Amino acid sequence: GLPARVRIHEVGARDGLQNEKGTVPTQVKAEFIHRLADAGLTRIEATSFVHPKWVPQLADAEQLFPLVAGLPVELPVLVPNRRGLDRALALGARRVAVFASATESFAKANLNRTVEESLAVFDPVVRHAKDEGAHVRGYVSMCFGDPWEGPVPLRQVARVCTALMDMGCDELSLGDTIGVATPGHVRALLSLLNEEGVATDAIGVHFHDTYGQALANTYAALEHGVTTVDASAGGLGGCPFAKSATGNLATEDLVWMLQGLGIDTGVDLGRLVATSAWMADQLGRPSPSRTVKALSHK
Ligand code: HMG
Ligand code: MG
Repeated sequence: GLPARVRIHEVGARDGLQNEKGTVPTQVKAEFIHRLADAGLTRIEATSFVHPKWVPQLADAEQLFPLVAGLPVELPVLVPNRRGLDRALALGARRVAVFASATESFAKANLNRTVEESLAVFDPVVRHAKDEGAHVRGYVSMCFGDPWEGPVPLRQVARVCTALMDMGCDELSLGDTIGVATPGHVRALLSLLNEEGVATDAIGVHFHDTYGQALANTYAALEHGVTTVDASAGGLGGCPFAKSATGNLATEDLVWMLQGLGIDTGVDLGRLVATSAWMADQLGRPSPSRTVKALSHK
């Protein structure tokens, strides 16, 4: 059966904006996050404490975080290394995410490290974050396919997942960075992870919608018992270090499906659509979300 409740992990302000060419003013990002919270989202990934030259769009993390820190929502942030963790903790962040790759090509492109080297960087980061009482998410990118390497063996993905859990991560997020997954593939990876000792409770899913499969993949994950789903308001998103990465599953498309299934999310769809329409105006182009299009033409 399907879960009664789904936790949406909103990534629009981070994954959504990190790929934008034009600099989005810090005040606009802050308003975006405030509006997402007003729309009922309770976990909003705010920014990344990565190297400012690697992701110039998020170079204002120090300025942005204090503008949203008072909101009564969870505000996870990305940290690629100890330097990033220290920056995040100094501002009072309580939830951090490290981000690993299932493939060597993307580990190199995204982190300038091999998979092993990046895991060695994350190990003390996760430990220190846990010692400080923070909640730690472990992203794994390229779980279903890689733009340079093609198909990615399930066992290779599972190995990185179990390494992150063994370090002490509280949860995983399985990234389909380039949106190539299909539902059977999702089921197969979730089953293998369970066999390897990772509980479904500790697994979130992160689908980009390049091939229009994100919602179908999400449904397969829900049937498997997954209750944490990543999505991006308006379907913004992509990764500057992965060619062919497009936007994430749109939060509105997800909420529309969940509402129809009678699954509670706590999100006010009208307010969320208004927020994405406003953000689309700020960015100067329409939202790719079908649900945003349908509901804003009413
Ligand atoms: P590097 O060049 O190898 O860094 O980059 P380094 O460790 O050699 O350090 C070089 C300099 O950078 C040093 O300064 C460090 O202090 C500084 P110097 O001593 O030369 O003056 N530095 C930093 N400064 C500020 N904040 C930091 C930091 N770290 C080092 N955190 C690094 C390695 C990991 C830093 C770089 O590759 C990086 O920032 N990568 C981030 C890439 C990124 O943000 N990608 C997008 C997010 S992942 C994603 O989108 C996928 C996801 O959505 C899931 C999915 O869809 O699959 C999560
Ligand atoms: Mg992503």
